[in-house]
Amino acid sequence: SHIQRLPLPYFQNTPTGDLMAHATNDISAVRNVVGPGIMYPADTLMTLTMSLALMFVKDWQLTLLALIPMPFVSYAVYYLGKVIHEKFNERQEQYSILTTKAQENLSGARVVKAYVREEYEVEQFRTASWEYFKKNLVLAKAQSVMWPLMFILVGLSIIITIYMGGLKVINGEMTIGTLTAFMTYLSLLIWPMIAFGWVTNMWQQGAASMKRLAKIFDTVPSIGDSERTDHTITDIEGTIEFRNVSFTHETAATPTLQGIDLTIPQGSTLAIVGFTGSGKSSLVNLIPRLYDVTEGSVLIDGKDIRTIPIATLRKHIGYVPQETFLFSDSIAENIRYGDDEAERERIHDAAEVSQIAKDVADFPQRFETMLGERGITLSGGQKQRTSIARAILRRPKILILDDALSAVDTYTEESILQRLRSLMKGRTSIIIAHRISTVKDADRIIVLHEGKIAEQGTHDQLIAMKGIYAGLYQKQLLEKELENL
Ligand SMILES: Nc1ncnc2c1ncn2[C@@H]1O[C@H](COP(=O)(O)OP(=O)(O)OP(=O)(O)O)[C@@H](O)[C@H]1O
Ligand SMILES: [Mg+2]
Repeated sequence: SHIQRLPLPYFQNTPTGDLMAHATNDISAVRNVVGPGIMYPADTLMTLTMSLALMFVKDWQLTLLALIPMPFVSYAVYYLGKVIHEKFNERQEQYSILTTKAQENLSGARVVKAYVREEYEVEQFRTASWEYFKKNLVLAKAQSVMWPLMFILVGLSIIITIYMGGLKVINGEMTIGTLTAFMTYLSLLIWPMIAFGWVTNMWQQGAASMKRLAKIFDTVPSIGDSERTDHTITDIEGTIEFRNVSFTHETAATPTLQGIDLTIPQGSTLAIVGFTGSGKSSLVNLIPRLYDVTEGSVLIDGKDIRTIPIATLRKHIGYVPQETFLFSDSIAENIRYGDDEAERERIHDAAEVSQIAKDVADFPQRFETMLGERGITLSGGQKQRTSIARAILRRPKILILDDALSAVDTYTEESILQRLRSLMKGRTSIIIAHRISTVKDADRIIVLHEGKIAEQGTHDQLIAMKGIYAGLYQKQLLEKELENL
């Protein structure tokens, strides 16, 4: 649950394989510590003290002699434990690399095939596996030295006892009975000695894992509710204002957005156009706080969005990201993701508005058709329309479509936009697009250029300006004419 709350940049900078490794190996290593790691010491401590006490009472000299190898056991455990700890770390890291590789290859299978890179990927994976194998082997070697060494040391202590005890018996200083009892106590000590080494090992592995887990837990969600949050805000209206907003991506050298001043009145439609990389997606990502501004502020209904509880803020925003993501679940469930309480009827309505309903009618199990790995694969445009249905299902006060109509033909686009207009009456819409046909009817259009607002106005005003927008329009008009020829 902590991982789910981490901000977007965290996931962009952390390989999935690392997170998967933490979730499996590290957690089980820590679990070993709190289970057997605590149970065995408690259990064996009792045996240890009792046996030692009885041995001392029987013959303290012999006891001390028998215990001579003990410090060596401690040292061996300490030293080997350290080596094992290091090798364990190295192996864990290799495991992270391996899982990242496997994960990328499976989800990127399409690209791998298209570029005929199967051989290359197999080779890469083989190398990574081989590394993992070697690291495991080194770890196993270190671990395998541990046990024989311990048995030798334990055996040594037994030999000393038999030899010295035997002499005592011969000399009549000790009865055979006492020696037998002594041997029994000593054998009772063997398990605690072994458990000691084993538990130390477990603790060391657990500590290594805990350190890595702590690193995740110490990553404070940088975006979330804070002491600035005003919990009395439970609703939003939908007037959005950008005040002198600048934004730089964590890993970027230059600012992505600079000096953005913009007001989007409630109920209006804003369209954003601009060349690729001009900062359109970055700009809208600031509204649901997927990123926080670097400078300036974003306000909704006149309130800084950092004072609005994040759940409230996001609940009222319907966001269709540029890269659609659908889960391996039925279409109905994918749409319901926007509002898990929605009844069937509302799902159908949303599907109707986004024009996915007519496609769904042709699917084998209609809305129950499974998507992804266990079901059918949708076309790019179908995915986009499913995403739009998901966003409008929650009847958002603010709807953001980031290039969400790019894979839809102009005819379907027109009817989606028309239905959206009546659905979004009184609500705020932000539409990012590359096609003029998508944006021309918006109340206001802004042109982003290199992170700044270069032009703004209505379609007609922008055409009259003869700037970037007019140029785009001319070009697209020409393309259309060519198509019609
Ligand atoms: N996560 C990120 N980390 C660092 N830089 C980023 C990140 N995302 C985007 N950028 C950079 O920010 C700039 C703006 O990107 P953005 O995605 O906002 O552009 P865009 O206008 O939406 O482009 P497109 O039309 O291609 O979708 C680009 O130069 C990009 O390289
Ligand atoms: Mg974009």
